[in-house]
Amino acid sequence: MLRSLIQKSPSSIFHLNFNLRSLRSRVMNTQSFSSTVSPPSKAIVYETHGQPDAVTKLVHIPGTEVKENDVCVKMLAAPINPSDVNRIQGIYPVRPEPPAVGGYEGVGEVYSVGSAVTSFSPGDWVIPSPPSFGTWQTYIVKNQNVWHKVNKGVPMEYAATITVNPLTALLMLEDCVTLNSGDAIVQNGATSMVGQCVIQLAKSRGIHNINIIRDRPGVNEVKERLKDLGADEVFTENELEVKNVKSLLGGIPEPALGFNCVGGNSASLVLKFLRHGGTMVTYGGMSKKPVTVSTSSFIFKDISLRGFWLQKWLGTDKAEESRRMIDRLLGLVQDGKLKYKMELTPFHDFNTALDKSLGKLGSQPKQVIKF
Ligand SMILES: NC(=O)c1ccc[n+]([C@@H]2O[C@H](COP(=O)([O-])OP(=O)(O)OC[C@H]3O[C@@H](n4cnc5c(N)ncnc54)[C@H](OP(=O)(O)O)[C@@H]3O)[C@@H](O)[C@H]2O)c1
Repeated sequence: MLRSLIQKSPSSIFHLNFNLRSLRSRVMNTQSFSSTVSPPSKAIVYETHGQPDAVTKLVHIPGTEVKENDVCVKMLAAPINPSDVNRIQGIYPVRPEPPAVGGYEGVGEVYSVGSAVTSFSPGDWVIPSPPSFGTWQTYIVKNQNVWHKVNKGVPMEYAATITVNPLTALLMLEDCVTLNSGDAIVQNGATSMVGQCVIQLAKSRGIHNINIIRDRPGVNEVKERLKDLGADEVFTENELEVKNVKSLLGGIPEPALGFNCVGGNSASLVLKFLRHGGTMVTYGGMSKKPVTVSTSSFIFKDISLRGFWLQKWLGTDKAEESRRMIDRLLGLVQDGKLKYKMELTPFHDFNTALDKSLGKLGSQPKQVIKF
């Protein structure tokens, strides 16, 4: 499979080999000053922006110098998130310039450390925190400041995925609007990893949660799964094609806060549930359709619209705070209080994982590459 991947674009392989030759000679030149060089790495690289299944390929990268403050990490697992896809497509506002290795979060095991590193030892499990580009590769060398040690008792797929989506769910619930036990929220995209975390984190605080999902075959099974996590109500978009959605609330109070990661009609449904003066926070746009708001929602319901972007939050000197929150989330995972659906896919099946992440095979669980 990987050979067929490489055969896709012989001309770009030539160009990449050229880049790799110059990279190799750079490494050879520095070896004389260094006592340690990482093992060679296999990486999923894109040389130009475009559709990820067309522009990504497996490449072999030679070993790189491990400087005195560096940590060399053997990657164990890394997810494919929607933002990884958007970075490769070139439509994400902050992205590395190609050629670049894909991926933004993940977990690995310390392989070796530079001479000045005292807080990490070979065998420790670490995550890049704040997350950083280039996690889809077997070995990564980065300054020790990038890495955060995590408890090895947590399943690797959770350590690999805790930074982007669960942290987003936690922050949106804690930072956007003051919520008290007994309040309610509404969200679309409830099957997403963020959505599943929102359900459980809200439930743990006694906050009612109303969830909107896409229509699909086997919808009852999905509803049951979300209810097992703590969802109070789960509706498909079709089920909400009624005159007054609030008649479906039963005893649940009208939501003060809504989360939208879909856009289009699905965002309008979130707005319909909100109480007077409620707020809708948009943090994703999976349908690629715009958010449309009626004039009356502003005038007669005084609705507020906001956005949330984890990368911006992390950029405001929040490194220590985010690490504390990550440890808290991993603690919930260890206590069995936070879980979400994932599928671990071996690195040599990267193409399959990518196809599933791109929605080519219908709704799929989050794909996590296992190196
Ligand atoms: N702003 C931020 O800082 C931030 C941080 C983290 C994540 N996000 C965003 O949050 C969203 C969810 O991310 P995730 O990693 O949690 O998702 P995920 O686990 O990869 O799941 C993808 C979700 O998107 C839904 N979906 C896929 N294609 C869709 C379409 N065409 N129309 C409507 N829904 C569609 C899926 O629904 P089905 O189950 O029906 O397939 C599923 O709920 C993404 O938009 C992501 O970019 C934003």
